[in-house]
Parts: sequence; structure tokens; C-alpha cells
Amino acid sequence: MVNPVQPAAPSSLSGPPHPIVVGVTGASGAVFAMRLIQVLVELGRETHVVISPPGRTVLEHELDFRFSPQSFEADAFLRHARLTAARFGAKDEGDSTDASLARVHVGRLHWHAHDNYMAPIASGSFRTSGMVVCPCSGGTLAALACGLSQNLVHRAASVHLKERRPLIIVPRETPLSLVYLDNLRRVCELGGVVLPAMPGWYQGVQCLADLVDFIVARILDQLGIEHTLSQRWGSGDLTTD
Ligand SMILES: Cc1cc2nc3c(=O)[nH]c(=O)nc-3n(C[C@H](O)[C@H](O)[C@H](O)COP(=O)(O)O)c2cc1C
Repeated sequence: MVNPVQPAAPSSLSGPPHPIVVGVTGASGAVFAMRLIQVLVELGRETHVVISPPGRTVLEHELDFRFSPQSFEADAFLRHARLTAARFGAKDEGDSTDASLARVHVGRLHWHAHDNYMAPIASGSFRTSGMVVCPCSGGTLAALACGLSQNLVHRAASVHLKERRPLIIVPRETPLSLVYLDNLRRVCELGGVVLPAMPGWYQGVQCLADLVDFIVARILDQLGIEHTLSQRWGSGDLTTD
């Protein structure tokens, strides 16, 4: 009999908002991570980012974004994110000329090396409002399901589970093997939210950016973060015709 451990609801966390952690792993769909991080910092959230080595490979392969494993330039990442969003059809992106605003956004993005267990997000005493693993590979999913801690993505995610804080994983794979399905179920039982990179098509999709934002919007909903990324069903502007 499944007995899921429930994480604290984001709304029950009191005081000012704490940082959000984003773990990026080597599943396809790097654009979801890039857009999520961009939106979080632009919405004013301190955002701690850790990228696994295969996550770096996929960022390079899919989005042509390169960085050295020893260092990461937040401003280059956010510039690339805006240009990518514009390339995928998002409106009002890629032409940000407000340098001071861009500096504020950059200051909110904190990058940690994948093997830096001295990073604040490796400890439960560092307060956060939740973590998203996006995209989440089958390898990282397996690590989370059985409590491995072989890099900082695993460690930060297992901290969120033990602290009963929101952990949202965004898996991407198809078809799904039985071991993959078992691991998804296990992470659910442990209190994680499984939010597959599986956008809906009912919102009048006009460009790829709409599909990306559909998923990012659902992630923000899980974190309890207000946004206007996509229209809500029942808001009056959408029909089923
Ligand atoms: C271009 C590319 C795409 C990949 N896509 C997926 C994927 O969609 N899902 C997945 O589980 N693994 C995918 N992989 C394989 C993972 O990167 C690999 O299993 C890796 O060990 C995951 O390690 P990580 O979880 O530490 O990032 C992909 C690899 C590459 C190079």
C-alpha cells in the first residue's frame, strides 16, 4: 500500500520567499531549464543552479550554450536564455537594453559546480522554498529514488526530500521502462512531484515558446509563484472549440 510522504505546501512557508534551487541534468529539453531559470530571476527570485556534466553536454548540443565546468557566466546564460526564447517565438524577448535591470537579474543567479558539496544547497540548514530538477534524466531519477548522492544535484534533491520541502522533477523519456516507472512512483511516495515535460496543446499554441512556457508555468504553480506566463483554463479567453 502506497503511503506518500507529503511535502509542506509552498503557501505554508512563512516569511520572505527563500531561494529556489534548480538542478539541470542530461535529459533532452534543456530549453525548459533555461527558460525556468530566466523566468525565476526575472520574477525576483534568488535562484541557485547546479548542472550535471551530462546536463552541460545537452545544453551545448540542444541550445548551443557552452560554459566551462570550472566557471559559469550568469550574464551570458541569461542573455542566451532571452535570445533562445525569442528564437522560439516568445514576444518581447532578446531586445532587453536595460543594463541596470539585467545586472539585478544576474545577481540573483547563483551557480554551483556539480561536485561542490560545500555549496549552501548541500545542507538542509540553508533555507529554500523548493527545488526543481529540470529536465530530470532517468539516471538522476534512479539516484533520487534510492537516495544516492553522487553529485550536488542528487544531494540537494535528497536534502529537499528529507526536509519535506517541495521537490519537483521534470522527467523526459519515451517510452518508459518498468524500472523508470517504478522510480517515478518511488519519488512520488517520497513526497516529490512528478511533472513530466509533456505540454498541453489546448491553449491555442502559436509557437514553440508557448509549449515551453506551458511547462514552466506548471512548475511555477507547484512552487506557489505568481506568474502570467500562460492563460489559465476557465479564464474566459480559452474555449474548447
Ligand atoms: C543529447 C542527449 C540527450 C539525452 N536525452 C536523454 C533523455 O531525454 N532522457 C534521459 O533520461 N537521458 C537522456 N540522455 C542520457 C543522459 O544524459 C545520461 O543517462 C546521463 O548519464 C545522465 O546523467 P545525469 O543524470 O547526471 O545528468 C541524453 C544524452 C544526450 C547526450
